[in-house]
Amino acid sequence: MPGGKYPKLFAPGRLGGLALANRYVVAPMERISATPGGVATDEMRDYYAAFAAGGFGLIVAEGTFTDLKSSQAYPTQPGLASGAQIAGWRRVTNAVHQAGGKIIVQLMHAGALILGNTYGGRPIAPSKVLPKGEKSPRFGGAGPYEMPEEITLKGIDDVIRGHAEAAENAIAAGFDGVEIHGATGYLLDEFLTDYTNQRQDEYSGALENRLRLHCRTVTAVRGAIAGRGITGIRISEGKVNDFDHRWPGGADDAKIIFSSLKEAGADFIHIAARDGAAEVFNSGHSLAGLARDYAGLPIIAAGNLHDPKAATELLERGEADFIGIGKGAIADPSLPIKISRGEAPVPFHPEMLVPLATIENTLRWLQDNKAG
Ligand SMILES: Cc1cc2nc3c(=O)[nH]c(=O)nc-3n(C[C@H](O)[C@H](O)[C@H](O)COP(=O)(O)O)c2cc1C
Repeated sequence: MPGGKYPKLFAPGRLGGLALANRYVVAPMERISATPGGVATDEMRDYYAAFAAGGFGLIVAEGTFTDLKSSQAYPTQPGLASGAQIAGWRRVTNAVHQAGGKIIVQLMHAGALILGNTYGGRPIAPSKVLPKGEKSPRFGGAGPYEMPEEITLKGIDDVIRGHAEAAENAIAAGFDGVEIHGATGYLLDEFLTDYTNQRQDEYSGALENRLRLHCRTVTAVRGAIAGRGITGIRISEGKVNDFDHRWPGGADDAKIIFSSLKEAGADFIHIAARDGAAEVFNSGHSLAGLARDYAGLPIIAAGNLHDPKAATELLERGEADFIGIGKGAIADPSLPIKISRGEAPVPFHPEMLVPLATIENTLRWLQDNKAG
């Protein structure tokens, strides 16, 4: 695909061992559109294949649960913990590869933020702390979260093993690798965050301890799939239930977090932010830029980067290597092709995710508004 006015966005790049045609990445987005058994559907196959056909260099498939216990956050979230779930995803990855795309999957443990769990799993968290905020109606929730159980040391080992097994299953399902969900308020991020982690053991206190679960998970997942798929991790300051949270140690925290994740074996880091280009901690850099400096790994920056000018600037300033697109990709899976041709993609409208953030509701909105 020629780059038109934005050649930097359309230059090939490498994410670990994975060669990508351009710098456009679909950010992981939960679409609560799987079967009640967590199996990906034909609708999901077509939804993901459309991003490949639309020119995205990489797709990060939505947060997918890792075990048949407490990792599932929503009843129609897809999983990677059973033969049927592997087979469902296999049809998705085949369709994406046939359309010339690459696809990895985000492995996610809900932690305390369960909205509905088919397996009867109870919310678990580093400590018995009631989550802030309320369950999102867009994802079928209502009212306050439940009080989680404090996870045991054996429970932590099970969570890590769950991620490694789900990563094996991801490779069996044809994915090109995995991204560990270490961000936005779910289990791993609850360990990192001081107010949700009040344990008294080696997983608490100093930042290095609160980061231990992230690092052990990266190392275990990499050990399970190295040579067969890439292993990355997503990190953020804000959370789905606390948008404005900021790391208390600022750039010092960023240095420890990003250099430790590199040390643990991550192939890339994906930064989630509301504004991926915004300066953090008066550092003169975005969080993605700090990750690039401190980890020296390929970085995906995401958050309000659908404008190709802003995205190009970020690449030119050396703040990121790849650009993650969330809502802009939901609105128009052909965003890269359109930008390369100088055409305007369909803009995102919040009603595309109403009343629930399902694929079906987006397709209906696009049809009703003749925007598809
Ligand atoms: C419907 C929806 C579902 C999302 N699900 C996930 C998810 O499963 N995992 C994740 O890390 N982020 C998730 N996000 C956050 C996006 O990946 C992205 O970081 C965010 O939308 C900001 O990028 P944007 O401004 O391009 O939309 C979701 C966002 C939306 C809109």
